[in-house]
Amino acid sequence: MTDRLQAAALAARENAHAPYSKFRVGAALEDAGGRVHTGCNIENATYGLTLCAERVAVCKAISEGAREFRRIAIAADTEMLTPPCGACRQILWEFCGNAELVLVNLQGRVEIVRLSDIFPRPFDASIL
Ligand code: THU
Repeated sequence: MTDRLQAAALAARENAHAPYSKFRVGAALEDAGGRVHTGCNIENATYGLTLCAERVAVCKAISEGAREFRRIAIAADTEMLTPPCGACRQILWEFCGNAELVLVNLQGRVEIVRLSDIFPRPFDASIL
């Protein structure tokens, strides 16, 4: 069964701007109040300025005043479910801590992992 967060990530994926890679990604971030903040990847002709779906969702949420997050769903059209890239793992750690990641594909395959499972030794503000 596709829950509402997975459905929101899949729907956000439809808005992806990915004319260069053609790889469309959607993300849906659930805050502590249950509100859902979505994002999609937004590519740029310079390539390097491309924004990942997860970071778009985080930036939208933060700019709307949300601060605590429960989980994030990430949707892509891959058989092996797509995890966040390294840069997004660091950004997610900063704002979401050890959040639950719900990886989903178009066939409804779902895998749930904790950020610490795939990002075991983050650079953390507590060491500053
Ligand atoms: N991408 C994401 O949006 N999130 C990920 O977790 C992996 C990669 C995007 C960036 C780029 O637009 C495309 O996927 C190919 O790397």
